[in-house]
Amino acid sequence: MKTCPFNYSGSKSDYYFFHDINIPIVDLFSGGGGIWSNVKSNDIIVNDKQKDLIELQKFIYESSDEEFDKFFKDVYSIANSINSRESFEKIRYKFNFEKRCKVIFYSLILTSTKNMIRFNSKNNINSTWDGHRNFNKKMQEKIINFRNRIKQKNIQFNSVDFENLKFDKNKYTLIVDPPYLLSMAAYNNYWTINDEKRLYNFLSNKNFCMTNIIKRDEKTNEILISAIKKYKWIFKEIEFKNNKAARKKTNIKEIIIFNSVETSNNLNLNYEI
Ligand SMILES: C[S@@+](CC[C@H](N)C(=O)[O-])C[C@H]1O[C@@H](n2cnc3c(N)ncnc32)[C@H](O)[C@@H]1O
Repeated sequence: MKTCPFNYSGSKSDYYFFHDINIPIVDLFSGGGGIWSNVKSNDIIVNDKQKDLIELQKFIYESSDEEFDKFFKDVYSIANSINSRESFEKIRYKFNFEKRCKVIFYSLILTSTKNMIRFNSKNNINSTWDGHRNFNKKMQEKIINFRNRIKQKNIQFNSVDFENLKFDKNKYTLIVDPPYLLSMAAYNNYWTINDEKRLYNFLSNKNFCMTNIIKRDEKTNEILISAIKKYKWIFKEIEFKNNKAARKKTNIKEIIIFNSVETSNNLNLNYEI
């Protein structure tokens, strides 16, 4: 099984049906890289508005071995200095308010609870320290495997609002994993009804595949339902059969939407997970 070294809230790294994709893609809301870093495609455009994540991933991809070794050493020294909640919070403060840099960012990831990357609505890290995580061999292997895997591919990194991304829409199929209106992650706090409408309008003349939640408890996403009808998109419910997420998702109807049968055939996904 391929893994992604970023434990990001909303990560789709365990949506295994994406791993078989083998055509040029744009991962429009790429987050921690749970989708693009696991596909078979060699031609990938990555985008997320969250700059720290994109810059770190871009560095891992583009850096020379010497630069990467130096980065590792610097991370090692900061991560090892974090040995209490106070020291973690001091470094977190430094990153949020004084020095936003990749080395501190990755040191915080390595020392956070469950290595979880979480930002609040002001785009500051609000992950916490649980006293157990540190720069261990397993994490080191994970990031080296990730680097080796992505280095084989042709990847372009971007950090812009989705509407401003430049790409050839005849060549690339969009993989769309936006903030969900009916979900609770912090980045959903600044995802508005207007963004939701903008997104569906933007997708209306493109080839795409999108995951989303259409129903949660008694709430339904009416904007999505209208767009599906208006643009004659097709969709299937995702079945979480063997997935650990299944237990948590009983009150949720999560779907995968395609602009056309042709796009669905081109992606050739078996979306029972
Ligand atoms: C559900 S998460 C994506 C998770 C990702 N697929 C993964 O596996 O890690 C949604 C992402 O959309 C990004 N986002 C929110 N608004 C955006 C916008 N207007 N343009 C581009 N990205 C945006 C957030 O920063 C967040 O990382």
